[in-house]
Amino acid sequence: MFQITEVLKKVPFFQTLGRDGIDFIVERLKFKPYDANEVICKIGDPGDKMYIIISGQVKVVVTSEKDQEEKLIATLGAGDYFGEMSLLTGEPRSASVITTEPSEMFILHKSDFDVIIERFPSITLSMGKIMSQRLRDTLQKAANTPTSGIAPSVKGSLSERRLVEVLKFCESNSLNGKVVVTRGGETGECYYEKGELQKVILGNLSEDQALDTMLNWEDGEFIIEPRPIRMDESSAPPKQEPREERRLIIVNNSMVVQKMLQRAFESMGYEVYAVDNGAKALKMIQSMDPHLIICDTKLPDTNGSELLNSIRAIGQIPVVFLTDASSRAQYEPQLSAKGEVYFTNSQEVGEVVKVVENALSK
Ligand code: CMP
Repeated sequence: MFQITEVLKKVPFFQTLGRDGIDFIVERLKFKPYDANEVICKIGDPGDKMYIIISGQVKVVVTSEKDQEEKLIATLGAGDYFGEMSLLTGEPRSASVITTEPSEMFILHKSDFDVIIERFPSITLSMGKIMSQRLRDTLQKAANTPTSGIAPSVKGSLSERRLVEVLKFCESNSLNGKVVVTRGGETGECYYEKGELQKVILGNLSEDQALDTMLNWEDGEFIIEPRPIRMDESSAPPKQEPREERRLIIVNNSMVVQKMLQRAFESMGYEVYAVDNGAKALKMIQSMDPHLIICDTKLPDTNGSELLNSIRAIGQIPVVFLTDASSRAQYEPQLSAKGEVYFTNSQEVGEVVKVVENALSK
């Protein structure tokens, strides 16, 4: 027979809790025995429980999508826990966990886990540190799998994996940190917060030129560098009350501008669609019936003036043009007579938001 509290005292993140804390958690734990070779959680599945190992052993593995080859990431034994990552991040299971011998577990459901975190927030500090270490290990080990099809590695060559794939991976894994890209003597950096591209740097280039340039690199190296989790980072995205339904279409050739604006407006409750040229914009306008269009003045297949004429043939949708002082002086005189048309003084997100909100309030 085991003494529950004795087992829990061995679990690192419980050690900081007093007797009250442990008692509070004990009441919420469910006991479950497992045979050897049972799959307790499977990579990619949603996760709603975490597990504390009382006795026995499990292996943490990732499998390549291509040939299902299994890669051992870690083995865990009595006093270790697993399954916490999905609960903390809301992401699918990062690995599969399989018993290697008959084992006994305590199971904690997400609803109870959330209550515990709220009551004993110090737990997130020790869990966060371990989670970020685990994430690094997992990425590192998956990177060393020659046939790994799960994820781009922490380090890799752009000739084997194009930057666009690496960035998609960072997005889908909610990366906090950066991707460093080198080619010849040049080094660029793409900064991420919770899987959102925040900033792109390459020499003196503007952000969109920098991203476009690096996306076209066919050789060179990349390194994904996750940043350790900070206490002030909440795993939950900020909750926004859905506001009155507003659909926006962003027409811009730059992926960076698209992403920055899309993120800002989505966080304000807008429904946002982004396209990169005039032809796609017209199709999208017809199918989505937007409340407003945010449009660049230069597009690969047309310019702002021609596109506005085509938009007016469809309807009187307000259009905000992304301009700066000089392009505004050029476009405003010729376009402002064509219905509801607005201009920004820069492409700064705050400025665009201000002009859009102002246009929609009229
Ligand atoms: P989760 O992603 O919810 O489900 C799989 C679990 O495997 C994960 O949480 C972690 O608890 C555990 N895990 C993933 N990577 C590692 C690692 N490198 N070392 C130890 N455990 C890990």
